[in-house]
Amino acid sequence: MRGPYDLVRARPEPGFEISVDGVGVPVIPGQTIGAAMHGAGIRSWRTTRFGGRPRGLFCGIGVCFDCLVTVNGVPSLRACLTEARPEDRVTTGAAGDTGDTGDTGDSGDTAEIGDPGDLGDDGGSDGGGAVSGP
Ligand code: FES
Repeated sequence: MRGPYDLVRARPEPGFEISVDGVGVPVIPGQTIGAAMHGAGIRSWRTTRFGGRPRGLFCGIGVCFDCLVTVNGVPSLRACLTEARPEDRVTTGAAGDTGDTGDTGDSGDTAEIGDPGDLGDDGGSDGGGAVSGP
């Protein structure tokens, strides 16, 4: 049976592991930390300041700031944009645990992973600005 690499004739370099909260996560060279975590089944890794709602990859393109992690002691990096490097040590947690101030653009009004019906219906009670109409 042909796999995805066969279909595009890709020959990726040997993979490596990063540490996410002390647990090894496999990485294909070139993957972002967010992609590696998602591939390992990690869907949320921090919570909002207010309400403690789960956050992980949402936009996947660096816009929503829902995917913040600490990498090698550097806080508030977007996992969806940060390329994984061998020996990276990633720590996750709530906004305060990642060392950020909570003012880094936590969208607050984005839906929880797997809950598309929740978009913007709470008036921003999670700390982000409310989505307002024209
Ligand atoms: S998932 Fe939106 S900024 Fe990373």
